[in-house]
Amino acid sequence: MIEHIAFIMDGNGRWAERRHLPRKYGHKMGTKTLERTIKQCAELGVKFVTFYAFSTENWSRPKEEVDYLFYTFREFLREVEKKSVDKKYRVRFIGNIDKLPADIADGCRRVMLETEKEEGITVVIAMNYGSWEEVTNAVNVLLEKGKTAVTKEDIIEALYTKD
Ligand code: FPP
Repeated sequence: MIEHIAFIMDGNGRWAERRHLPRKYGHKMGTKTLERTIKQCAELGVKFVTFYAFSTENWSRPKEEVDYLFYTFREFLREVEKKSVDKKYRVRFIGNIDKLPADIADGCRRVMLETEKEEGITVVIAMNYGSWEEVTNAVNVLLEKGKTAVTKEDIIEALYTKD
């Protein structure tokens, strides 16, 4: 049984450009692929599926593109919430959610709470995620706890993926 698969959502722009379509359309199709992939992974009995959707570096893209990506996040959050009566998967977000637009950050927190008890596949979405940011955040969490020396276990506990 496969425990965990991670996908880097890359190539949307090239996919669209090859078809003489706007890059935005590539992101739109990428989002549809994400939904299909979740369903297929669940059917295969995969326990965790992670999508690297928006990295800390992605802020440097043209505003119109970033706004479009935020639009797809809002749509996704709405879709997951609509399914709340018949929830199908647990959703976790990793990354610096607090720095995303407030409605998206609130939506992420709500969806995590609403789907927390869901059994079956866990969908992890990396949003405003960067590995250096994660490590920096972990160090700050540990400093706030008053740590002056840390163990490997302390670091694991301070990562976004702690649980
Ligand atoms: C990289 O492709 C892809 C992104 C920067 C964004 C991927 C995220 C989404 C499509 C939204 C996901 C939605 C949810 C709901 C989580 P690229 O533009 O770098 O493609 P390229 O390498 O071909 O230029």
